[in-house]
Amino acid sequence: MTRGPGGGDGRTERGGCADDRDIIARIIHADRYVVESIPECSLLSAPPAREKPLLTMREEFAAACVLYSRGMELAHGLFEEKRDLFPRDELAAWAVDTTESLMRNKAALLSLCKLRCGGDYLCSHSVNAAVLGAAFAMHLGVNRVFLPDFAAAGFLHDVGKLFVPEHILRYPGGLSPSQMEEMQAHVLKGQEFLRFWDDVSPIVLDGELDHHECHDGTGYPYGKSEGEISFTGRLLAVVDMYDAMSSTRGYRRQVTPFRALGFMYNERDSHFAPGYPQAFIRLMGVYPPGSFVRLSDGSLALVLEADAHAGLRPLVMRVLDREGRSCASDVIALGEREDLSVSGTLWKLPARLRRDAEERIGRI
Ligand SMILES: [Fe+2]
Repeated sequence: MTRGPGGGDGRTERGGCADDRDIIARIIHADRYVVESIPECSLLSAPPAREKPLLTMREEFAAACVLYSRGMELAHGLFEEKRDLFPRDELAAWAVDTTESLMRNKAALLSLCKLRCGGDYLCSHSVNAAVLGAAFAMHLGVNRVFLPDFAAAGFLHDVGKLFVPEHILRYPGGLSPSQMEEMQAHVLKGQEFLRFWDDVSPIVLDGELDHHECHDGTGYPYGKSEGEISFTGRLLAVVDMYDAMSSTRGYRRQVTPFRALGFMYNERDSHFAPGYPQAFIRLMGVYPPGSFVRLSDGSLALVLEADAHAGLRPLVMRVLDREGRSCASDVIALGEREDLSVSGTLWKLPARLRRDAEERIGRI
């Protein structure tokens, strides 16, 4: 680990993490795509296709910012203000709009999941799980009619935490066995809560019930295994783990997105259903949108667009020069630059740098 440009502006992760990066790159460049190992599912309408964005990231970014903020307002209403009358129609409309934004250019909302990190974890985690859940479902070829349900399922997957005592929810360390029991009860309490809502999609109910079940039967609440776990539960288990690992939480250190992906790959076939972590890695790329990377010339850049095809050479926007000074927002397609590459990934960047990067995207 070395200090990043600008002193405390970030740290670069090297060394052991290169292993994760290499594993992820190998998955991405492998010809045999693993999605076919996902069992047949009635929700799937087409083989996963390379989604060509309808708009550029910059063109979609302003709409994505408004949507992300709306999602956070909805989450605050649910988890912070604990409104009795949660505006379900607003959530449904937001889920549709979120899906449409992802279809126009998924990188815009995906990058905000990282750029807007911080604040209340439960709220940002719910919004991120909605965005990532819908994007992953889209990537797997789920019929577009169902995509808003996957966004809603991600948003509501932890709704049962409304009923977990605050001191356990925010406990700054490992939980005792009895505290863990109370925490794990959020799944069945969430089912009870959702069943009071009329016309809840089975996708939402499945996702809430199964997102902590593991392929090898070690999960909860029922210890389901393999084919007993719903498609939505398998999908959200991946999304939940990725966002939890790559977000700041009181008791756990945040890791870089690609370290989270490497960890999840190691849990394939045990924690996760076969094929799912690999498919998610294909969606996110080696350097997910919204990640900060150090370039080989020492400057610091934000990843704008990256998918399986970009591999180790994503589209980036430079934000700080090698001395840590603010610099022109050069957009660089690393795939077209043989003289420049990514030399490391950064994390723990201050909010002001993330805010600055967000404003720059609107101006490029
Ligand atoms: Fe949960």
